[in-house]
Amino acid sequence: MDQTRRNLLQTGAASGLLWALPQAGLAAADAPVSMTAQVANLQLAPPNYAKTEVWGYDGRMPGTTIRVGQGDRVKRRFVNELPQASSVHWHGIRIDNAMDGVAGFTQDAVPVGGFFDYDFVVPDAGTYWFHAHNRSVEQVARGLYGALIVEEPTAPDVDRDEVLVLDDWWLDPKTAQIYTDFDSPHSRSHAGRIGNFVATNGKFGQTMDVKQNQRLRLRLINAANARIFELDLEGLQGWVMAYDGMPLAVPEKIDGRFVLAPAQRVDLFVDVTAEEGQTAHLLRLDDGKSVSQAAFQVMGVAASTRRAAPVALPANPNMEITGLENARQFNLVMEGGAMGRLDTAILNGERRSFEQLIAANEYWAFNGVVGLTDAPLARMSRGETAQLQIYNDTSYPHAMHLHGMHFREIKPDGSQGPLRDTLLMVGGETRTIAFVADNPGKWLFHCHMLSHAASGMMTWVDVA
Ligand code: C2O
Ligand code: CU
Repeated sequence: MDQTRRNLLQTGAASGLLWALPQAGLAAADAPVSMTAQVANLQLAPPNYAKTEVWGYDGRMPGTTIRVGQGDRVKRRFVNELPQASSVHWHGIRIDNAMDGVAGFTQDAVPVGGFFDYDFVVPDAGTYWFHAHNRSVEQVARGLYGALIVEEPTAPDVDRDEVLVLDDWWLDPKTAQIYTDFDSPHSRSHAGRIGNFVATNGKFGQTMDVKQNQRLRLRLINAANARIFELDLEGLQGWVMAYDGMPLAVPEKIDGRFVLAPAQRVDLFVDVTAEEGQTAHLLRLDDGKSVSQAAFQVMGVAASTRRAAPVALPANPNMEITGLENARQFNLVMEGGAMGRLDTAILNGERRSFEQLIAANEYWAFNGVVGLTDAPLARMSRGETAQLQIYNDTSYPHAMHLHGMHFREIKPDGSQGPLRDTLLMVGGETRTIAFVADNPGKWLFHCHMLSHAASGMMTWVDVA
């Protein structure tokens, strides 16, 4: 977008604001930064294809990256110019509940033509993201997401810091338009909406120039509705520094493939080991074949040797999982889906057979209940520790996301996994997570395969 057009857009948005607030007499200098959800046409598929109509923040997909410092306040006026009500969720942020952006739960959906002022502090450094949280199965698929990067107080020793948002789209190969079968029974009852076109940062053939022995910080975000990315490196070597925004106490050397489930993030520090003239890759495994997800052309030499191994990123404040001895115990059984064993479940307060659920286009249950109800999975007092055992009694993997708080997995031998906000569970697995309920409010706990969340896999935790 050229400067003139950007200015025009900004002026347009600003005058819209004043117009929407006749009583406020807002001076232009006080006008909050806006982010406007709108329809846009972007060149998503390769250049020989038509542009694709998407929904994006400020007409971009991903939306403009928000980069702030740890402890900063983020203020955004979300303006809805979509043909559908919407809201913005700030995924992974330990946020005030009123700012969590869950339409119909922590706030009313922002109507067509309306706005909502988000205003919150970011306590933790790391890689986070924002996305629509009203009819997410449609709105995220249409492109309503972006990266929220919170920088450490002291910049780590890297040459570049790059955000790579991975997504797939389910496109009509003739027209390059997004298929609008967002509620298809097949994606709801099977693995979710998996696209036929995969890209990085909304671009086909994402490539960047690098130099040999440069150290890159790659912030990978999986914004896909349901695709589990299996990734690998070629011509790059390095470490996992953080999962879901939260630094590892000891960086993990990358040795082979790694997995990024929907909504998960990973921060890598990688050194360019490929030589000048070669191309390094972030690879994705697709039907058993390795294909390039992002390419790094080596255009020179930055240094004759690699740097020493990195030191860990500084831990975020007050993240210890304490009180495990007296933790409150909860259980969650996930059931349903194709090839599942769900015979009956409660839907809208009534017991239904699986045939009746299918007729209602609902397929999944948590502890025998389909979708959100007035009863939370767990009612906690502030500061209590919860230990939640989850049994995936389905034939599918699910990426379970807790809003508002991070958790750790408690392994059978008592050891703890990394801090995360989204846990990938394959079919048949039982896993246990623990978290300290230190953030008051109503927090969703749901599958981030968005078709599953829309067809039953949603519950919540109440922290008084
Ligand atoms: Cu990223 Cu409730 O979601
Ligand atoms: Cu799921």
